[in-house]
Amino acid sequence: MRAGDLGARCRTARRCAAALAAAAGLGAAGLAPATVKTYRAPPDTVRLTPSPLPGYAKAQAHCTACHSAEYMQYQPPDATRAYWRAMVQRMKTVFHAPIDEADMPDIVDYLAATYGNRQGR
Ligand code: HEC
Repeated sequence: MRAGDLGARCRTARRCAAALAAAAGLGAAGLAPATVKTYRAPPDTVRLTPSPLPGYAKAQAHCTACHSAEYMQYQPPDATRAYWRAMVQRMKTVFHAPIDEADMPDIVDYLAATYGNRQGR
């Protein structure tokens, strides 16, 4: 920026002060590495939560081939059985997860009881 540019925009002392303050603010933001942000990537070794339900083994067999069980943990804890059913269905139709229709109910029961609104029931 040429010196004349700033001068053209702030003809009064007040406007100059504002322009300088804004410039200083920008500069400070640009140069502010004072706090170092660290982000620890979640381990991709999260396992499905154990359960005595028959769906546990089936989910182990069918739900962690493509991604870790962490995906389950990030679903809303009040998610209904219908929500989980739709989720499993989506894995099947969209991502072609090889899940037998016969195994669906057990898997969905397990998911709703372990990660959804049937927890503790
Ligand atoms: C064939 C591979 C595959 C299998 C098997 C699979 N998934 Fe997924 N799943 C994916 C992919 C790919 C995504 C990421 C979708 C995205 O990023 O939008 C995903 C995402 C998810 C998510 C995150 C929420 C979302 O909507 O993206 C959940 C929860 C989930 N899967 C649950 C399951 C469950 C439960 C099973 C077993 C019934 C399963 N997955 C089996 C491929 C698979």
